[in-house]
Amino acid sequence: MTIKTRNDLGQNVRSKSIALLNEHLAQFIDLGAQIKHAHWNVKGPHFIALHELFDDLYAHILEHTDTIAERLTALGGIAHGTVQAAAEGTKLKAYPLQITDGLEHVDYLARSFAEVAKGTRKAIATTDEAGDLATSDVFTEVTRALDKDLWFLEAHLQETNK
Ligand SMILES: [Fe+2]
Repeated sequence: MTIKTRNDLGQNVRSKSIALLNEHLAQFIDLGAQIKHAHWNVKGPHFIALHELFDDLYAHILEHTDTIAERLTALGGIAHGTVQAAAEGTKLKAYPLQITDGLEHVDYLARSFAEVAKGTRKAIATTDEAGDLATSDVFTEVTRALDKDLWFLEAHLQETNK
């Protein structure tokens, strides 16, 4: 279902973008919840650094979630914003509930960030080819930000030169 709008993009193009954006909205809601879960449950010698880093990452994801949902509604769509809809729609691997170790949380979050970025990177081209350049720009922006946050996470896991 789409809402009537004066937006000049064709109905077909808008419908495709709306469906794609809703798919990604589910992943972002899932990813945000995973990060908060890690923020609450992380333990170990790097507790405070990771607890705070995870909150920064959560703030970024919340912003991307909002951008995606509002792009979708601007196109005349209904954003599927509930946790129940996200749980049905997300394709992310389930996050293990029992881990507490800091680097294990970093590792699982890095896996999820990479998974989400793989999807948004693909969506840049899909929406570009469909003729919706503004949505493509949204995907470009969030992919660049996800790549940066993946770097922040992976720097904890990579070897140093010492
Ligand atoms: Fe908190």
